[in-house]
Formats: sequence, structure tokens, C-alpha cells
Amino acid sequence: MNSFAITQQKGGVGKTTNTINIAGALAARGHHVLTIDADPQGYLTNTLGFRDAYQSDPPSLYNAINSPHDHDPTTLIVEHPEFDVLPANIDMFRLEQDLIASGRRPRQRMEDVLDQLDDYDYVLIDAPPSLGPINDNVLLAAQDILIPVEAADSSVLAIEHLLNQIESLERDYGVQITEQALLISNVNYPLDNEQADAIEWFRDTFDGRAPVFEVRNRAAVKRSLASEGSIFGEEAEDTDMTTVYDDIAAALEEVSD
Ligand SMILES: Nc1ncnc2c1ncn2[C@@H]1O[C@H](COP(=O)(O)OP(=O)(O)OP(=O)(O)O)[C@@H](O)[C@H]1O
Ligand SMILES: [Mg+2]
Repeated sequence: MNSFAITQQKGGVGKTTNTINIAGALAARGHHVLTIDADPQGYLTNTLGFRDAYQSDPPSLYNAINSPHDHDPTTLIVEHPEFDVLPANIDMFRLEQDLIASGRRPRQRMEDVLDQLDDYDYVLIDAPPSLGPINDNVLLAAQDILIPVEAADSSVLAIEHLLNQIESLERDYGVQITEQALLISNVNYPLDNEQADAIEWFRDTFDGRAPVFEVRNRAAVKRSLASEGSIFGEEAEDTDMTTVYDDIAAALEEVSD
């Protein structure tokens, strides 16, 4: 099983959109794929049509992360037409507080959840927009990450903070966390100077370190989300971004077992 986290603490940079479309691309290539919604706001879960699961009574992913050995995460999985989903739950707004208060392996619970999910070729984890304990759990569990960024100065700064956080987790936990791709997301042409400079900075910084992909702003991407699926879904309209997401999926296959 290969697991990748889609992570970036900055909000609204395309984490959820990329998670859904990379999952769609991998599924279209014939893989058995699971997405995990690790964001308490549950945008992935709700976008894909699982509003009931997001609002459901316990047990949920909240309980599975809090006490992984008391809750079998496979019983929480729901089926989307393209891939499976381990939904977020509204209770997860309490999770960061609980993790810190418990003191017991507070950053390695997601790892214990993943260990119980061995039936998939690929697991993609949609991370929350924060550098808190949930994101640490996601980074330590997946250890392979995809970083979405916007073509903007604010994303350059955000990446520096994220890379520092990764270094400190690597030091504290003796692990290696690898950036497997940088996804410059929701790019709108024509570019202004700030956008062009940011894209150049990303390409220079990640040159030789990880492949850099550019995902353009497309109404078709937005519309497929509104119809609860990826651009690879049966009813999705044609868009040139399928080629980009297919290239990203191929790059993930290359670094996979
Ligand atoms: N390629 C794209 N084309 C069109 N719209 C896009 C594209 N990528 C992202 N968006 C839109 O941008 C908004 C933010 O994207 P998304 O929710 O994926 O970001 P996020 O990083 O997951 O946000 P959060 O930090 O709140 O979890 C969404 O409304 C999404 O539909
Ligand atoms: Mg999101």
C-alpha cells in the first residue's frame, strides 16, 4: 500500500481539489484507491456527497484516530463511484485538543489507523489547513507528501514554514518525509509579476528534488466537484486537466512499491 498526504497549512490552496482528482486519476488507471478526509471541516467528505457520514453519531474517524485499537477503520469506509472514502466527522473539531491532552503518542495515531488499511493500492490523505497535531499525524503516517501551492508570495512563505515543520518531525521521530511532487494549483493566466515570480521560485527550489506540476483554473474542475466527483467521473465534462492529473498519477506510480 502506498500512502500520500496532500498537505499545506495555508487554506484554500487546492488540497481537497487535488486529492479528489489525483484519486480519480489513479482509479481511472485501474488502482484500488482510498481517500481519507483528515480535515475537521470535512470539505472532501461533504463535496463527495457523504454529508450524513460527516454528521453521524460515533464511531467515526474521530474515534478511530483517538483510539485506533478500539475502532476498526475499515468499518467506517464509504463507497464513492470512483474510489473509497474514509469520511471526516464533525466531532473532529475536538480532535487536536484531545490528542494533546492524552499525551500518549499524540502524533502517531494516524499511523495506527493506516496500519489497519492494507486492502488498497493507494491511500491519499487530505490534510487540514494547519500545522497542528492532526497535520503532524498525517505527515508521520504517510511520509510521502504532495504539496499544493498557489502562485503567490504567501505560498512561498507557507512552504518555508512547512519544510521547517517537516525537518523538526524528521529529527524528533527519526523518519524521512519525502516531497514527491509540488502542485502549483488553480493557476489563472495571464500571470501578473507576483504569480510569475512565485512559479519561478517553486520551479527553482524543487528542481532535482521533486517534479513540479501546474494545474490550471478550470470551470470543468469546479463543476465536477459540484457534481460530487473528479474530472475522471463518468459524467464529468472534457478538460485538458485530465492530462495533467494523469501525469501526476503516473509520477506517483513511479515512486510506488
Ligand atoms: N484547478 C482548479 N480550477 C478551478 N477551481 C479550483 C481549482 N483548484 C481549486 N479550485 C477551487 O478553489 C477553492 C479552494 O480549493 P480547495 O478547497 O481544494 O483548497 P484546500 O486547500 O483544500 O482548502 P482548505 O484549506 O480550506 O481545506 C475551491 O473552491 C475549489 O473549487
Ligand atoms: Mg481542503
